[in-house]
Amino acid sequence: MYLWSLLVFLCTVPVQSAAPNGPWDAFNYAPESRTVQPRTIRGIQGDVSNADALLNEGTVTLSSNGSYLTVDFGLEVGGLISMTFEAIKPSSAISLSFTESPLFISPLTSDDSAMSASNMSYDGVLHVPPPISPGFWTQPSVMLRGGFRFLTIVSNSDEPVSFSNLTCAISFMPQMEDLRDYTGYFYSLDPAFHDPNFLTKIWYSGAYTVQTDTVPVNTGRQVPFMMHSWANNATLGVAGPIIVDGAKRDRAVWPGDMGIAVPTQFVSTNDLVATKNALSTMFAGMNPETGALPESGPPLSQQGSDTYHAWTLVGSYNYYLYSGDLAWLTNTWPNYTKAVQFLEGKIDDSGLLNVTGLRDWGRLGQGGHNAEANALLYKVWTNSISLAEPLNETALASAWQRNASALKEKYNEVFWLPSRGMYRDNETTTLCPQDANSLAVVFNLTTSAAQASAVSDGLAQNWNEFGPVAPELPDTISPFISGFELQAHFESSNDDRAMELLRREWGYMLYTNISVQSTLLEGYTSNGSLYYRSYQGYDYDPSYTSHAHGWSTGPTSALTFYVLGLMMTSPQGATWSVAPHHSGLSSAEGGFETGLGWFGVKWSASGSSFHLAIDTPADTRGVVSLPMIGTLTIDGEQLWPQNGIALELVGGSHVITVQT
Ligand SMILES: *[C@@H]1O[C@H](CO)[C@@H](O)[C@H](O)[C@H]1NC(C)=O
Ligand SMILES: *[C@@H]1O[C@H](CO)[C@@H](O)[C@H](O)[C@H]1NC(C)=O
Ligand SMILES: *[C@@H]1O[C@H](CO)[C@@H](O)[C@H](O)[C@H]1NC(C)=O
Ligand SMILES: *[C@@H]1O[C@H](CO)[C@@H](O)[C@H](O)[C@H]1NC(C)=O
Ligand SMILES: *[C@@H]1O[C@H](CO)[C@@H](O)[C@H](O)[C@H]1NC(C)=O
Ligand SMILES: *[C@@H]1O[C@H](CO)[C@@H](O)[C@H](O)[C@H]1NC(C)=O
Ligand SMILES: *[C@@H]1O[C@H](CO)[C@@H](O)[C@H](O)[C@H]1NC(C)=O
Ligand SMILES: *[C@@H]1O[C@H](CO)[C@@H](O)[C@H](O)[C@H]1NC(C)=O
Ligand SMILES: *[C@@H]1O[C@H](CO)[C@@H](O)[C@H](O)[C@H]1NC(C)=O
Ligand SMILES: *[C@@H]1O[C@H](CO)[C@@H](O)[C@H](O)[C@H]1NC(C)=O
Ligand SMILES: *[C@@H]1O[C@H](CO)[C@@H](O)[C@H](O)[C@H]1NC(C)=O
Ligand SMILES: *[C@@H]1O[C@H](CO)[C@@H](O)[C@H](O)[C@H]1NC(C)=O
Repeated sequence: MYLWSLLVFLCTVPVQSAAPNGPWDAFNYAPESRTVQPRTIRGIQGDVSNADALLNEGTVTLSSNGSYLTVDFGLEVGGLISMTFEAIKPSSAISLSFTESPLFISPLTSDDSAMSASNMSYDGVLHVPPPISPGFWTQPSVMLRGGFRFLTIVSNSDEPVSFSNLTCAISFMPQMEDLRDYTGYFYSLDPAFHDPNFLTKIWYSGAYTVQTDTVPVNTGRQVPFMMHSWANNATLGVAGPIIVDGAKRDRAVWPGDMGIAVPTQFVSTNDLVATKNALSTMFAGMNPETGALPESGPPLSQQGSDTYHAWTLVGSYNYYLYSGDLAWLTNTWPNYTKAVQFLEGKIDDSGLLNVTGLRDWGRLGQGGHNAEANALLYKVWTNSISLAEPLNETALASAWQRNASALKEKYNEVFWLPSRGMYRDNETTTLCPQDANSLAVVFNLTTSAAQASAVSDGLAQNWNEFGPVAPELPDTISPFISGFELQAHFESSNDDRAMELLRREWGYMLYTNISVQSTLLEGYTSNGSLYYRSYQGYDYDPSYTSHAHGWSTGPTSALTFYVLGLMMTSPQGATWSVAPHHSGLSSAEGGFETGLGWFGVKWSASGSSFHLAIDTPADTRGVVSLPMIGTLTIDGEQLWPQNGIALELVGGSHVITVQT
């Protein structure tokens, strides 16, 4: 009978089951349907009658040239607009303009996506010229708008135009019918903050941001850029769906961005096909002579970035860790090792990599013996050791091990500035960058806990009320690099500082009414404005900044990996660790799924006790580190008083309590 029920179970339950339901579902931003309607009317101008009817299956009429109506979808969306034209005259004409931020609502132009321009009106509008046919209409797919919250519909004629049934068919995450069907979840209350649900919201905001950046392969930004318009019909890689940097723009594969976006994807939807397609696209674009990888995917196909080259290699490790896809790894290995050699070829007599491919995440001063790039090289080598294991590449693994150890020593010798307690950018400067210092802690280039903590102290010196101002990109707050800084504070056990960074930086981005209050900004200036990278490539155009960038979603994986404390230490979680950072919170719960099954953690803390429930697949094993010391009970059995040593457990369900 047991066998019978087991067989029924195996036959009926799909491999990918959803995360459990609970109060956290209320904070999932993903819409319930792939077809969404405006939630409110943001404003009207001129002769507009029955605007509110549009929200209730009614008909709205614009009756003079220049009259317009702005609708608010309530959150970031992206896709094709449809409506039903009712009463139409021969000369009736309209245009549509789109924007993420409400600051750029305008009847004359959309926010910019094709290109930046200081007049903030590069993109213009989508014209629907006469004659318009009555009945159902859908915008041309070539003019897909990948990310927006507000839509303005303007009459361009003195003759009236009436329409109803305005909707947007979501184009992102095409492989998911139910966009809310996550494999992972997170839930915690932060009573110290003005919104106690902030942590749960920011986890889901990151997850939804990455969904908006997972797109059909034929919806990339057209290159060369359109003049006074936009087009999103370019082919983005070898297959779709594919993960890109931003919903509105650039809509291209960027491997550095994936260093944050892919861990978010793993803990929330575990839908890694888009990542595989993006990585395969980068390897397919490898220069067959030199082994150089492109900095970005087609049609941009930027070249000349040693750091983004390294990020494709780091991304390969992440993809294998999450998926266990040995077939992909085996197939990619010849190109992977060639790409590692490309970096090794840039190491000079000093033992450090000399960066000559200067492009990077936007920072200034890249080049030479750069500390960020050398931290990435170290991470590439230590990852490669793990990847070599299943492929039995033992000789390579030991060479990489020697290389990595030597680099770690050299790194601390050359870059460490004892007077600052931080790493400097290169040997000719005292500038201590946010990127290298964060990565050095996260990638374990530090040699002691005290050193890692000193770096955390130093990083906090860059903070203002909106977050850390990056010394290597003045006047700029980079949520991408801050995602690594967040991990560095957790890694160095400065949990309160990590929580404060979350509240300042991501609290600002999630609640500010100059953004979309659902997905996360690409970046902003030190005073919180949208003039991100104005002087560094973005032509003083704040409307070009993306409001849904996967690289800004660092909190999603950090809350799962550090606050819950659940991490994988081998592919798909065959081995795992649980080490909660309780960070002043009283409870947290959540988990994720891999091909091996469900991994869940639920903990609660009071002054004198800590309760922890862990659920992992039966065939796995892991190590548990508890955040407090006391009398230990595991699954109802009392053990000797705990002395701080980590516990080893086999998979299954366990309940652990510590009482001081
Ligand atoms: C805005 O600037 C761009 C780039 O310089 C230019 O092509 C475009 O015509 C300008 N738009 C308007 C409305 O002036
Ligand atoms: C509508 O107004 C615009 C801007 O004032 C003008 O350029 C255009 O010619 C007008 N269209 C009609 C049909 O009157
Ligand atoms: C309303 O729009 C939806 C989807 O956008 C479409 O399926 C439906 O046919 C439309 N209804 C009418 C009456 O046109
Ligand atoms: C994309 O659309 C533009 C504008 O319509 C067109 O010029 C271009 O050829 C199209 N590209 C592709 C790849 O279809
Ligand atoms: C390996 O790189 C070459 C270019 O050097 C490319 O043509 C090929 O598609 C790549 N193969 C894989 C599996 O990445
Ligand atoms: C060293 O770092 C400083 C500060 O970032 C930068 O200005 C300088 O250009 C760098 N040196 C080289 C050789 O790139
Ligand atoms: C790095 O290589 C470039 C180009 O060969 C060279 O000009 C530069 O001096 C090197 N930098 C260092 C720090 O060795
Ligand atoms: C590595 O070696 C093990 C043990 O000899 C073997 O089972 C496995 O198939 C090998 N893997 C590969 C990719 O050759
Ligand atoms: C690092 O290891 C590789 C083996 O892949 C070896 O060929 C290379 O010379 C080593 N590089 C350094 C700088 O030690
Ligand atoms: C960090 O590096 C040290 C060697 O410098 C090593 O002993 C330690 O195990 C590493 N930590 C992790 C988590 O890999
Ligand atoms: C944002 O809120 C402030 C304060 O309530 C208000 O003054 C401002 O107009 C709002 N801005 C937008 C774009 O809604
Ligand atoms: C905020 O910073 C931007 C970019 O530095 C600047 O253009 C803008 O004037 C500043 N805004 C305020 C209110 O200070």
